[in-house]
Amino acid sequence: MSDKLIVRALKGERTRPVPFWLMRQAGRYLPEYREIRAKSKGFLDFCFSPGLTVEATLQPLRRYHMDAAILFSDILVVPYALGQEVGFQEGEGPKLKALTNSAGVAALSIEEFHERLEPAYETLRQLVFAIPETTALIGFAGAPWTVATYMIEGGSSKEFIKAKSWAYRNTADLERLIDLLTEVTAEYLLMQIACGAEVIQLFDSWAGILPEEEFRRWSINPARRIVEKLRSRCPNVPIIGFPKGAGALYETYVKETGVDAVSLDSSVPLSWAAQTLQPHAALQGNLDNVLLLAGGEAMERETRRIIDILGKGAFVFNLGHGILQHTPPEHVARLAEIIKEAG
Ligand code: CP3
Repeated sequence: MSDKLIVRALKGERTRPVPFWLMRQAGRYLPEYREIRAKSKGFLDFCFSPGLTVEATLQPLRRYHMDAAILFSDILVVPYALGQEVGFQEGEGPKLKALTNSAGVAALSIEEFHERLEPAYETLRQLVFAIPETTALIGFAGAPWTVATYMIEGGSSKEFIKAKSWAYRNTADLERLIDLLTEVTAEYLLMQIACGAEVIQLFDSWAGILPEEEFRRWSINPARRIVEKLRSRCPNVPIIGFPKGAGALYETYVKETGVDAVSLDSSVPLSWAAQTLQPHAALQGNLDNVLLLAGGEAMERETRRIIDILGKGAFVFNLGHGILQHTPPEHVARLAEIIKEAG
């Protein structure tokens, strides 16, 4: 089993120093990312060019020496690999040809699934040799519910009326879609592990919009099935679940999915998490991404408070959600310094 610092923490050990990485640690806040990003017209083309994605993954490590590298890709490569039309419009976010009915679900195909994702696998194979020896390689996927919201809404959403209406009124269609996504997501993650991923994170960014019963059905249940499948084949690879916005249901999520670690959004109270969740799973999080953008004394204070409280147990420092585009890179440098001093 790996003795890398972050793997030990995710497997339940209290470590010093506290390991860290940051969601969206690669991306537009870095000038060197914007420079290589300009080489591809579409964002998906960029994601499917291993020469560029390897470099994008490495860029933040050179500056800040995080304990983990995360595969540079996107959660929406999975709908693309199932044959859905997916595009990204500059400044507007993702645009998909929305699924409207059961025929849309039936038309999805697994035939070219792994072939279409080959560039992600190749990126991981190259990263194994390109990252520093003590750095762990993180693979990821969107959780079925979060990916389904994009497939049904056709992009980002505020109210999620279409996706939630499927849950309430087209339940059988949503069930078919979620079952398919659960199956292929597990396959995708197993392939990522085979290609060198040492840690897996499952991003359920929109778990928090679901009421309790729906949350169990569409977030917890698929995550549990994915965890079981990965565990049975790769018992040593830690799995981080991120049911963003789940509130008090974080507790149920941790107990019922069996994840090794759970990533906390910034609204989760620290002492509650330490008492209720940390006995069952390693914790990751949860600095407000706007506090990182703002910087200064407030950021430093909150960073130390998080490490004081959550660092008493198994803990990986991270943000509550991804780095924002207008975050000054110097703030990230300062954050990395404080984490190493405090831990
Ligand atoms: O963390 C990392 O450094 C790895 C890269 C990564 C990206 N997307 C790159 C990206 C990861 C892990 C993701 C996951 C992702 N993608 C999620 C889950 C995490 C979360 O943020 O909740 C979601 C919901 C998506 C879907 C997505 N991709 C949206 C809504 C957008 C548009 C928003 C925006 O910032 O423009 C993207 C595009 C995207 N994914 C960019 C990057 C760097 C920006 C596109 C560009 O550089 O042109």
